[in-house]
Amino acid sequence: MKVNKIIFATGNEGKMREVRMILEDLGAEILSLKEAGIHVDVEENGTTFEENARIKATEIMKCSGEIVLADDSGLEVDALDKEPGIYSARYMGYETSYHIKNQNLVDRLEGKKGSERSARFVCAIAAALPDGRVLTTRGTMEGEIGYEEKGENGFGYDPIFYLPDYGCYSGELSLEIKNELSHRGKALRLMKEELRKLKEEP
Ligand code: IMP
Repeated sequence: MKVNKIIFATGNEGKMREVRMILEDLGAEILSLKEAGIHVDVEENGTTFEENARIKATEIMKCSGEIVLADDSGLEVDALDKEPGIYSARYMGYETSYHIKNQNLVDRLEGKKGSERSARFVCAIAAALPDGRVLTTRGTMEGEIGYEEKGENGFGYDPIFYLPDYGCYSGELSLEIKNELSHRGKALRLMKEELRKLKEEP
């Protein structure tokens, strides 16, 4: 199957840079929605990360007829029944600052220690193919919710996400290291393998 052109369903430039870096050696042209001239708003009304990624990729594949990749990601805190999960961006309202969202999660874990604070970032990536098939991959980054914000890098929940294996917060990682360890990097590299297999199909 030809894998010459791939549309990645995001308007986020930072994400596109990461995607291009990881998928570069596939030898395909990788376009953002804007570059592909697609302007659609897809409602993410799924109940899992995979379902949301699948909905987004499929809708945009139908508009474009090309291979479309889409992702959905978020933070799961075990002691909070995996909240905020698929609602990570919407948690406490889109307009609420992450400083407030982060403090709220720290407050809700009061009295919990060590592994009782376990959490993970999850990323699901879906590839919708013009023949109707949809492939999905998932990557995770395991850690714990810290006691206060640390680090100037990253975004969202990175400043409260502690990585016990590395002895630092996700907000303290350089972009290069974060991409190597991150849920999104892992899911993307797994998707790259799936796309390689597709290329070998007659
Ligand atoms: P999206 O699916 O990429 O739009 O991400 C959903 C939300 O999950 C983001 O708005 C953040 O709140 C959270 N999130 C996902 N990945 C990360 C990360 O690597 N660091 C911090 N927050 C993240």
